[in-house]
Amino acid sequence: MRATFVVLLSALLAGGLAQSDAEAFEPANFNVSAALLDIGVHVSAIPELAGLENRSSLSACEIACASLQTIDGLGEVLTQGLPAYVNFTGSYWSAFQGEVSPYCVFKPNTALEISVQILISRLTQCSFAVKGGGHGAFAGSSSIEGGITVSLENLDQISVSSDKTIASVGPGNRWINVYQALEKEGVAVVGGRVSTVGVPGLTLGGGISFFSNKYGWACDNVDSYEVVTASGTIINASAKSRPDLYWALRGGGGNFGVVTKFNFNAFAQGSMWGGARILSNDSFPAALDAIYSFATKGSSQDPDAAQIISFGYDASFGPLASVQLDYTKPVANASVFDEFNKITAVKSSTGIHTLSELTVMLNEGIADGVRDTYWDVTFKVDRDLFTFLVDTFYNLLPNIADAVGLLPTISIQAITVPQLTQMQRNGGNALGLDPTSGPLFIMNMGTNWDNPSDDARILKFHADVMNTVKVEAKKKGLDNDFIYMNYASQFQDPIGSYGTVNQEKLSAISKKYDPQQVFSKLNPGYFKLQGVPNATWPS
Ligand SMILES: Cc1cc2nc3c(=O)[nH]c(=O)nc-3n(C[C@H](O)[C@H](O)[C@H](O)COP(=O)(O)OP(=O)(O)OC[C@H]3O[C@@H](n4cnc5c(N)ncnc54)[C@H](O)[C@@H]3O)c2cc1C
Ligand SMILES: *[C@@H]1O[C@H](CO)[C@@H](O)[C@H](O)[C@H]1NC(C)=O
Ligand SMILES: *[C@@H]1O[C@H](CO)[C@@H](O)[C@H](O)[C@H]1NC(C)=O
Ligand SMILES: *[C@@H]1O[C@H](CO)[C@@H](O)[C@H](O)[C@H]1NC(C)=O
Ligand SMILES: *[C@@H]1O[C@H](CO)[C@@H](O)[C@H](O)[C@H]1NC(C)=O
Ligand SMILES: *[C@@H]1O[C@H](CO)[C@@H](O)[C@H](O)[C@H]1NC(C)=O
Ligand SMILES: *[C@@H]1O[C@H](CO)[C@@H](O)[C@H](O)[C@H]1NC(C)=O
Ligand SMILES: *[C@@H]1O[C@H](CO)[C@@H](O)[C@H](O)[C@H]1NC(C)=O
Repeated sequence: MRATFVVLLSALLAGGLAQSDAEAFEPANFNVSAALLDIGVHVSAIPELAGLENRSSLSACEIACASLQTIDGLGEVLTQGLPAYVNFTGSYWSAFQGEVSPYCVFKPNTALEISVQILISRLTQCSFAVKGGGHGAFAGSSSIEGGITVSLENLDQISVSSDKTIASVGPGNRWINVYQALEKEGVAVVGGRVSTVGVPGLTLGGGISFFSNKYGWACDNVDSYEVVTASGTIINASAKSRPDLYWALRGGGGNFGVVTKFNFNAFAQGSMWGGARILSNDSFPAALDAIYSFATKGSSQDPDAAQIISFGYDASFGPLASVQLDYTKPVANASVFDEFNKITAVKSSTGIHTLSELTVMLNEGIADGVRDTYWDVTFKVDRDLFTFLVDTFYNLLPNIADAVGLLPTISIQAITVPQLTQMQRNGGNALGLDPTSGPLFIMNMGTNWDNPSDDARILKFHADVMNTVKVEAKKKGLDNDFIYMNYASQFQDPIGSYGTVNQEKLSAISKKYDPQQVFSKLNPGYFKLQGVPNATWPS
């Protein structure tokens, strides 16, 4: 028997509006079966659900996945063993996520189908994960062992308003798709710098962009969000409508619902200039001087520019740095890059390119499906601390240098005063950063390698570099609590770093829109309001 999935969208929207009262977004006696019935899913007509009370022989997720498969007209369900399932788990950016085996993968086609999945997960108590671009580095970020991994890939709409001020982007998109579509309209949005990264994870955690010195982070440039809440209700959040949720989504991650549409502020954009320059270690001091000038002065003088410096190691070449230089206008070697232009590069790819081309260039050499870890901390900009962190990285590197397939990096990315100022737009974001504390910089580390037997010592290497630099920064009064979610490891607590006031505000908003805490209890992966994913620091 196939149950019929009747889309009663108007009824659902009416329900959403009726429930907009602050205190009772979801009543205490919320009836999940009744909510499913409201959107056309008759629980009693689905054998697996009707037999819920007899579940001794069936697991929660067996029932949930079978139900999703039974309901006519719902998106695709991939079960273990199918070639498409193997293909799916094999296509994560990080091997740690690919090693996770969900009971099934669900690919919804609409927001309403996500409502159905969330309510079925509640009814059966089957946990789920939400996958956008899948670039979370650690296991469970956007995958879940034995649960339902909800892949948003089919929610891939991209459209531009007739006045070209808003770009509506579905969460199934990668940045390359967004930029290529928007280039046809002569516009762009503030988003990721690497082609294959997903729109939703990057935007919900913050989102550092080539345009950030001009407009702030990606989360500061979302005009409104469409969200499926824990009760399956589809709502909008903007500065005017539900400003509390709107604020929370600007940095609060996946704690509040599944975002099914990002309405980004769009702006006119043509060709740009940018690329990477590779430097050898005799240029490191000059390069650190240059990035220091940019972080403290250049970024304020010319907000069209963006710069990142990353240090790494190549077995045949030795220590090297890669400087990413970008300019939002098609101008070569703008004066803000003068200091870098004086440094002889081993190799350079800077030139005039479109935004989408720049993101493809930045993706070169980034492999899918290998073991990855990302970490970050934040400090006040200080020239001596730059030297200290680079030295610490190279001093500790011998501990892991013989690991097969090793590609270790440590980067300096300034959170400039113009960025901090732009973050205050539209009522501010949830990150807890204020312009008077700037300029700051994120010290982020990312490493990939081949063999599981090297996992422990490589994680410990990151922990050791972080700890060592943290101690030095504290000693010099340069420490800052902020941990950027999008680069954080499973041993860190980004939301806890936003400050007590913001953390409590985020918890209150979560309890208002999700009183049963579905987005932590049934959707446990990645960074939650409840704290660090893994409290056992590598040792
Ligand atoms: C190669 C590379 C380049 C990067 N470049 C940048 C950069 O330029 N700037 C920057 O700021 N960061 C960058 N990052 C970090 C990046 O922002 C994070 O990895 C981010 O989580 C990726 O988003 P995703 O959708 O691909 O990830 P996913 O792993 O799919 O999602 C991350 C988290 O968001 C949740 N989530 C996803 N979609 C939704 C949704 N629709 N509603 C609610 N929750 C959702 C997931 O459940 C998961 O917990 C980069 C990362 C990599 C690996
Ligand atoms: C919940 O709703 C279903 C479907 O309308 C109904 O059969 C059931 O009795 C309700 N349960 C409670 C506890 O009210
Ligand atoms: C549950 O199992 C019992 C005993 O096997 C059976 O009598 C009953 O009909 C079942 N209930 C449902 C809803 O399947
Ligand atoms: C596997 O993934 C590739 C790339 O996404 C796709 O072209 C192919 O059809 C997939 N194969 C199966 C069996 O799903
Ligand atoms: C959300 O906003 C859009 C655009 O303003 C509107 O078309 C849509 O009906 C709204 N949805 C809800 C659930 O309020
Ligand atoms: C640069 O690295 C090489 C090792 O590849 C080392 O011998 C040399 O001393 C380093 N130079 C500086 C200036 O650190
Ligand atoms: C920009 O500067 C680099 C480094 O000095 C130089 O190699 C390149 O030729 C310059 N490009 C242009 C277009 O002037
Ligand atoms: C947490 O991290 C430690 C290493 O620090 C590891 O041994 C342990 O297995 C991890 N726990 C989980 C649940 O992943």
